[in-house]
Amino acid sequence: MIVLGIETSCDETGIALYHTEQGLLGHALHSQIAMHSEYGGVVPELASRDHIRRTLPLIKQVLKHSNVRLPDIDAIAYTQGPGLAGALLTGASIGTALAFALGIPVLNIHHLEGHLLSPLLSKPAPRFPFVALLVSGGHTQLMQVDGIGQYRLLGETVDDAAGEAFDKTAKLLGLGYPGGQSLANLATRGQAGRFKLPRPMLHSGDLNFSFSGLKTAVALLISKHEAAPQTHADIARAFEDAVTDVLVEKSLSALEMTGLQQLVVAGGVGANAQLRQKLSHRLTALGATVFFPELEFCTDNGAMIALAGALRLQHINGAPRIADSFTVKAR
Ligand code: KG4
Ligand code: ZN
Repeated sequence: MIVLGIETSCDETGIALYHTEQGLLGHALHSQIAMHSEYGGVVPELASRDHIRRTLPLIKQVLKHSNVRLPDIDAIAYTQGPGLAGALLTGASIGTALAFALGIPVLNIHHLEGHLLSPLLSKPAPRFPFVALLVSGGHTQLMQVDGIGQYRLLGETVDDAAGEAFDKTAKLLGLGYPGGQSLANLATRGQAGRFKLPRPMLHSGDLNFSFSGLKTAVALLISKHEAAPQTHADIARAFEDAVTDVLVEKSLSALEMTGLQQLVVAGGVGANAQLRQKLSHRLTALGATVFFPELEFCTDNGAMIALAGALRLQHINGAPRIADSFTVKAR
C-alpha cells in the first residue's frame, strides 16, 4: 500500500509517499522561513497562500521522483491539526479532494502523532512501548506510547513550549526567526557557567515543565550587561544548558516512572545537538536507549504524516508493521 502524506500545519509544505513494505519512497519539503523571517514570525495569511501555491507542484514532484503514478496511491493522509486554520485547510482540502477523485480512503492525522511516530522512519527503530519526549515550537510533552493510537500524557509544559522559549530568547538576543538553531550555534561559542539560570520545575515531583520564566531571566541578564558578542554567546549557553538539563532530567524521570527503557525524541528541538549529546550520554550510562529521528524529520515534514497514515491504515486492517527499508529521498 502506498500512502501520500500532506503536512501544511504551519510554515512548511511537506509531501511524502510511504510504502508499507518498502518504506519511504520519496519526500519533499518547502520551507516558508525566508518569507516569514522579515516579519519576525509566521504570518498566517501568507502561510496559507504559500501552501496553496506549493502543495500540488510538490505532490507532482514527489510522484515523479518516486516513479509513482497518482492512481497507484492507496490512501491519503493529511495533517488535521493543531496548527494555523488557513494552512491546515489547504492540506485538508487538497487531500480530501484528491482522495475523493481517486476513490481512496483519506486519513486525518494529528500533527503530534506524526511527530511521535517520526523516529520509526529511521533505523534502528524503537519498539512499542516507549516514552516520547515531544519538543516542538508549539508543544513540550512527555508521552507513553504503547502502540498506534495508544498514547498516555505523562507531563507537559504549563506555559511556553521549549521551542517557543528558544525562539523568544533568540529574539531577545537579536537573532532571526525561528531562533532555535541560531541560538544553539551562538551557544557553542559561549562560556559554560559564566551565567547561571534556574532549572524551572526540576524538583516539582511531576513531569511538567515551565519555560516562560527563563525568557524573563534572560531579559534581566541582557539588561544588566553590555551588549558584547561574547556576553550574548555566554547567555545563549546558559539558556541552552538550563533548558536541556530540565528536558534530560524529566525524560529520565519518565523512564523511571514507567519502567521503560526506550526514549524517543521528536519535534524541532530534537535537532538540538546539546540535547542529543546529553541524552545519549545519560541513557547509555543507564543501559537505556534513545532514538532520534533523522534531522530532516525532527522539524515538520510530510514523511511523518504519510507514515502515521500508513500505520493507522494497517492498524485498521490488522496488525501494524513498519517497513524494513528506508529508501530514496526526493528533494
Ligand atoms: O516541530 P517543529 O518544526 O514545528 C512545530 O511543530 O512547532 O519545531 C520548530 C521549533 C522552533 O521553535 C525552532 O526554533 C526549534 O524547533 N528548533 C530548535 C533547533 N532546531 C529547531 N531548537 C533548539 N535547537 C535547535 N537546533
Ligand atoms: Zn511540528
